[in-house]
This record gives sequence, structure tokens and C-alpha cells, in this order.
Amino acid sequence: MTVLAQADGDAPYVPEHVAIIMDGNGRWALSRGLPRASGHPEGAEAVRRTIEASLEFGIRHLTLYGFSMENWNRPRTEVQALMAFLRENLAEETAKLDRHGVRLVFIGDRSRLDHDIAACLDDAERRTSSNTRLDVIVALSYGGRQEITSAVRRLAGKAACGQIEAAEIDERTVSEHLFTSDVPDPDLVIRTGGERRISNFLLWQVAYSEFVFTDVLWPDFSREHLAECLDEFGRRNRRYGALSA
Ligand code: IPE
Ligand code: IPE
Ligand code: MG
Repeated sequence: MTVLAQADGDAPYVPEHVAIIMDGNGRWALSRGLPRASGHPEGAEAVRRTIEASLEFGIRHLTLYGFSMENWNRPRTEVQALMAFLRENLAEETAKLDRHGVRLVFIGDRSRLDHDIAACLDDAERRTSSNTRLDVIVALSYGGRQEITSAVRRLAGKAACGQIEAAEIDERTVSEHLFTSDVPDPDLVIRTGGERRISNFLLWQVAYSEFVFTDVLWPDFSREHLAECLDEFGRRNRRYGALSA
């Protein structure tokens, strides 16, 4: 297993922004004869390890896909178990992350979350807003198509009332109306759990991201697995449609 030779932010293979589709919690639990929902607390342990490793490696922005718009279609009991887990752990985790200099940001449709959970997210963002070591952006109740749709709706509203000229709308204007307006696009997207699809994650922002798919189930994901994904990223030749130097 390859481990990063040098773990500082200047290492050329450490991308600025890593985004992760954290998949495989249910299968991890079922393969141990446990109920599906018990995979989620184990997944939270992998989140802690990944944040620690990101701090160590000098990653600047880490986006974690925690709950998609489509995940609302799961059985009520599973959704409730996930929300209960968030409710019980958010405040304590926020305090810990704050001590480590992490700025927390939540992206997604907050109106679908229970009121107290949405308030916890607001509070976590406020509390950590001046931290600068690492941005942890958590996608909760998030869908890429819904995000783009809402940006289009807002832009159309501005055009209708003369705040903006329709002809002036360009890629930068669209980007500025997404949840992620203050972070660069992901350099690297990792998906655990064996599936090779995007599942409505950051559709606009991943236009030129590199993708690494791994069969490791999310609760098993470790610092070394992240290091391997970064090594793989370091071997990629990003051409952006042009020719290599
Ligand atoms: C990812 O694990 C976590 C969420 C989507 C909430 P899954 O719950 O999708 O686990 P699998 O893919 O069924 O194993
Ligand atoms: C994607 O995983 C969403 C998250 C990891 C939060 P899913 O398990 O929901 O994706 P599909 O259903 O396999 O596409
Ligand atoms: Mg899944």
C-alpha cells in the first residue's frame, strides 16, 4: 500500500479540493449480519478519519456527500435513524472540528430537514465561519440537478426584475449562484462502495474533476486508502481539452 511520501500541503499530488461519495454503509452492515442502519455510525467513524487525514495531508477543501435528495425515498425508518444520528452528534462534532480549525459548510435543501437539525447546521456554520485550516463541506439533502435548477430560478427572477441582463449570464454568474460559490471546483472525486456513477453529486462542479472509484466500503475507508487515491490523482494528466505540455 502506498502512503504519501511527504505529507505537507506543498506536495504536488495533494489536490486542493477532494470530494467524496461515501457509499457502502448498508452493505458493510449487512455483510456482518447487522441491520443496514448500523452502517451509518460506522460511516461516521470513517468521516472522522478522513477529516483527520485531510488536515494531515494539507487538503484545503473536502466535500462529503452525506445524504442525497433521492435518499429521501428510502424507508422512513432508515431516514429517521440517519436524522437521529445527526441530531445526537452534530453539536459535539462541531465543537471538535472547531478546535481543529475546520470551517463547516452545509449544502443542500435545508427546508426538507427537521427544524432543529437545520438550526444545528446554521449554528455549526456560524460557529466555525472564521476557521481557515480546512473547509469541510457536507452535502445533506443535496442534489446537483436541484442545485442548478434553483440557480436558474434565481437568475431568471433577477432578469425578470431588471437586476441582471439575460445576455450577461455566463459560466461565472451560474457558478456564483450555486451553493459552492466560494470554493473552487473539486480536483478529485472519490467514490467508495464499488458503484461507478455520479448519483446527482456536484454535476456542474465536476466538469473537469478526476474520478477515482474504489470497491472499499465507506466504513472501511482509512487514511491509507485516501493516500492511495491521492497517489492515483498524482499520476493523472489533466489536459482540460488542450494538449499536454
Ligand atoms: C451511503 O451508504 C450512505 C448514504 C447514502 C446515506 P448506503 O446507505 O448507500 O450503503 P449501500 O450503498 O446501500 O451499501
Ligand atoms: C449516493 O449514494 C449518495 C450518498 C453517498 C449520500 P447512493 O447509495 O444513494 O447512490 P445510488 O442509489 O447507489 O446511486
Ligand atoms: Mg449506496
